[in-house]
Amino acid sequence: MNILVTGGAGYIGSHTVVELQNAGHNVVVIDNLSNSKAKSLNRVTEITGKKVDFFEIDIRDFNALDSLLNKYKFDCCIHFAGLKAVGESVQKPLEYYDNNVCGTVTLLRALNKHNCKNIIFSSSACVYGNPEIIPITENCPKGNCTNPYGATKSMIEDIMMDLYKSDSNWNIVLLRYFNPIGAHQSGKIGENPNGIPNNLMPYITQVAVGKRDELSVFGNDYDTHDGTGVRDYIHVIDLARGHVCALNAIKENCGLEIFNLGTGHGYSVLDVVNAFEKVNGLKIPYVIKPRRAGDVPVCYADASKAEKILKWHAEFNLEDMCRDSWNWQKNNPNGYGD
Ligand code: NAD
Ligand code: UFG
Repeated sequence: MNILVTGGAGYIGSHTVVELQNAGHNVVVIDNLSNSKAKSLNRVTEITGKKVDFFEIDIRDFNALDSLLNKYKFDCCIHFAGLKAVGESVQKPLEYYDNNVCGTVTLLRALNKHNCKNIIFSSSACVYGNPEIIPITENCPKGNCTNPYGATKSMIEDIMMDLYKSDSNWNIVLLRYFNPIGAHQSGKIGENPNGIPNNLMPYITQVAVGKRDELSVFGNDYDTHDGTGVRDYIHVIDLARGHVCALNAIKENCGLEIFNLGTGHGYSVLDVVNAFEKVNGLKIPYVIKPRRAGDVPVCYADASKAEKILKWHAEFNLEDMCRDSWNWQKNNPNGYGD
């Protein structure tokens, strides 16, 4: 298939481009490089041996999208482009609503105009808020998002649902990701956060590489097996392959479908620290700090719907994720910035 990937220079996007090219799809990437480097796509080519057609385009730029869509005929768009830093979204809500929500509306208008009515969207487990059901099924009601970033994901889902109601020629797959970590086994592509990482794994790898002194563990008084927060960490390669499987659903005119992409296993912060230390033979110094505002105690998926319908399940375990995250970081201490 001919696939348009928005945000394809980023962390999940670049891994997905690898899997798409390996599966024989033709890929065009657009990205405004606001949180990535085009170098990631050169690395993709080193892995797959295939060139990536790249255009520096902002999804809010209707005219640029319009002329791209005049030139290429796409079977599906996989839409990763968006800002994703939870804390920053609290400081800069208008930027987040403009970039994520207005950007997606502009993208949908352009796709609609060119009759490309197939889209796979990067949603998030954060739409469940503090989940009512654990493990979380897709039927779990959406919850209150505690930050503008999460609100943009929930709003975009609603916009896409309304679009589908208005025109059932659309096929829309909403993928609710749990916590992607890990990197391609080659060590050539991986997560490249700007500044101080918000997320657990990049923070751990930066402690391991000597950029940060110690990890802060946010809270050890949750009702979990060791008191620290529990999440469903999923290898980014598994996540990327989930998109390739979702294309089959699109091909079969699935209409609007929602899938959780997680492993179904919950690990605590200290489980991750211990696994990282064990598999990599390193020590990660940490201190216990108060709970982080907005964090939920426990969040992990029931991923059986994706298994049943997409024939997809996660194959990598926590040790694989810790090994591959470290392999990326130690080979690229400054990310793509070298
Ligand atoms: P990322 O920041 O590495 O990738 C996003 C890409 O989108 C970047 O390359 C950025 O430059 C680009 N971009 C942002 N705004 C754009 C715009 N207006 N026009 C064009 N390009 C734009 O993030 P990621 O971790 O790869 O996340 C990909 C998607 O998955 C995002 O939508 C994110 O919200 C979602 N998601 C991520 C996680 C996670 O933990 N990483 C979890 C759930 C959902
Ligand atoms: N944590 C620490 N110390 C840190 C960073 C995180 O103890 O330095 C803890 C958190 O308190 C939490 C766990 O590690 O218990 C995971 O935190 P992350 O920030 O890595 O991930 P979150 O679950 O908070 O959120 C992530 C993404 C969101 C996404 C969500 C669900 O940041 O964008 O997963 O997919 F929506």
